[in-house]
Formats: sequence, C-alpha cells, structure tokens
Amino acid sequence: MTYARIAGTGSALPERVISNAELAARVDTSDEWIAERTGIRQRHIAADGQTTGDLAYAAAMAALQAAGVDAKEIDLIVLGTTTPDLVFPSTACLLQHRLGANGCAAFDVNAACSGFIYALTVANQFIRAGTAKTALVIGAETLSRFLDWSDRATCVLFGDGAGAVVLKAADEPGILSSHIHADGGYKELLWNPVGVSAGFKDEPNHGLRVLMQGREVFKVAVKTLDRVVEETLEANQLDRHQLDWLIPHQANLRIIEATAKRLDMPMDRVIVTVDKHANTSAASVPLALDYAVRSGKVQRGQLLLLEAFGGGFTWGSALLRY
Ligand code: UT7
Repeated sequence: MTYARIAGTGSALPERVISNAELAARVDTSDEWIAERTGIRQRHIAADGQTTGDLAYAAAMAALQAAGVDAKEIDLIVLGTTTPDLVFPSTACLLQHRLGANGCAAFDVNAACSGFIYALTVANQFIRAGTAKTALVIGAETLSRFLDWSDRATCVLFGDGAGAVVLKAADEPGILSSHIHADGGYKELLWNPVGVSAGFKDEPNHGLRVLMQGREVFKVAVKTLDRVVEETLEANQLDRHQLDWLIPHQANLRIIEATAKRLDMPMDRVIVTVDKHANTSAASVPLALDYAVRSGKVQRGQLLLLEAFGGGFTWGSALLRY
C-alpha cells in the first residue's frame, strides 16, 4: 500500500502586523471585544503589491527545504486559495514556474477556508493512486484585498498568509484518511457575491467584500465540525483519546474550544494560532501545522487531526501520522 507522508512544512506571513488597538482607531470596536469574542489579538496584512503567489512561494520554498526536496522532483502542485493573483493562469501555475518545476500538473482549488484540506485530499488521492510521487500542497490567501475596512463585523476577523507541505509517497502512513464535504445551500451565510461571470457592482472595490452572518455561521460550524471529527474517528476505528494533536482551522477560539471539548482534548494538545494570525482562510491550517512542527510541539510519529470549515459551506478533516 502507498501512503502520502508529510516530508516537510513551511509557512510565510507578511511583515506588517495590525493589532486590535490599531483597528479600534479605525472602526467602532475594541481590543476587548475582538479578543473576547474571537481570541484574535493581531493579524498580518500583505504589503501593496505583495500577492498570494508571493506568500505561497515563500511558504513552498521553506517546505521544500525542510523536506530536502528539489523543486524539479515535484510532480503535482495543488494550491487552495480564494484570493488568486489573477483570474488565470492559476496561482499554482505562477508558483510552478517561479519554483522551476515546469511540466508538472498544477492547479488551484477554491473551497474557501477548507481550501487546504481539500487540496491535501486531492494530492493524497494522486499519491495513493500512484500517479504522483512528490506533491506540493499549499493554502495561501490575501483576504485583506477584499475586506471592507469600514465593516467592523468582518474586517477584524481576517489576515493574510500561506502554509505549505511537501507530500512524498511512502510505504507507511502518512495520511490515514481525509473527509471533505460541501453544502451550497448555505452560500448566503458567508460569501462574496460578485465575480467575473456574475458581474461586479458599482460600489467601492467593485463590490468585492466578505458578507457574513457570523452568529449563524458559528452555530453551523460547531455542529458540522463535531460531525466531521466523529466521522474521522469512526472511519479509523479510533478512540478520541488516541489523538496527539488537534490542528484546527483558526477562525474563532470559541469554535476551536468547542471541538476540543467534543474530543475531550485539553487545550495544551490543541494548536492555536488565531491570536497571532486571525483567520487566514485556506492558509490557516498549514500555518498552524508549520508553527506546531517548527516550535517542536508536534513530533514524528504522532497522530494529528486537522479540520476546517468555511464558505460554501465547505468542511473537511484529515487524520495523519506525522
Ligand atoms: O472561517 C470561516 C468560518 N467563519 C467563522 O467561523 C466565523 C463564525 N462566527 C464568529 O466567529 C462570530 O459569530 C463573530 C466573531 C463573527 C461574531 O461574534 P458573536 O459573539 O457571534 O457576535 P454577534 O455577531 O452576535 O454580535 C454581537 C454584538 C452585536 O451588537 P448588538 O446587536 O448585540 O448590539 C454586533 O453589532 O457585537 C457587535 N459587534 C461588534 N462590536 C464590537 C460585531 N462586530 C463587532 C466588533 N466590535 N468588531
């Protein structure tokens, strides 16, 4: 049996950090409100001209170096993003050329905040099927580009960044299972309802902005994440106490705590980066994973549960032995 194993991780964050206090000087909010309701204390925001692809490139280089893999060995690039550099070519193609990995398959996946879990699932299938041996999987975003900075309900929640993993075919797990789902019936609870084909609006930033019914999203997210972690445990006939780490999507500390409670995991076995990164959408899980690896928390051989939930709605999980 062939498995996909994480050979290396990497991440990148823009230099510019915006604190809650700085946002409170711009909109009617406060550090207390943001920290209490979300756990967020700061976020990184891309510089003018710094793109999703730039962050993806830095994260990919770090992951390749950690894996000891040359870019020419890559035979698949899957990149989760909702904020591509261009309409086309895909950010994955732009990245492939910059890395010098020309010739391999490269494409983007748009599954909003679940983008990395979706991308990981796709790459895992390629490796399990024997059609790829070395895959680069990335989640990268510059959500700041379409935030409405006058809307306190959304602008305090998001940040920019990128995370990457190099997957290699191996005889031992690796990724044990992944589970992805979507329900487009919820599209209007969290969306950006303009686009190339539907058209743009005669509004600031052409109508590009996040529209979210936060309280409703929160409720569905908690219930749905409960279901997907149960599904993952059941599929692997695993007791929840066998997990070493929960590496969740970083949208809201209260959602993370709810999932941890469901898994009966103490918070010191849960990776939390939402305080420093805010919600970086598709980048959030691989950013948290890279932090967990580089800080020495996650060790080789440990069992990790990754999960995410986002616009679409989309959601998913991956169970892996690191
Ligand atoms: O990654 C994709 C998935 N996204 C999520 O998972 C996000 C899920 N939702 C959430 O994280 C939370 O619902 C929010 C953090 C977005 C909001 O927290 P909440 O506890 O659900 O607050 P709320 O929306 O019910 O608003 C409570 C109050 C309202 O005032 P009133 O109506 O009670 O007077 C809001 O107007 O807080 C007000 N409010 C704010 N106050 C200060 C909303 N945003 C802010 C703000 N600063 N930034």
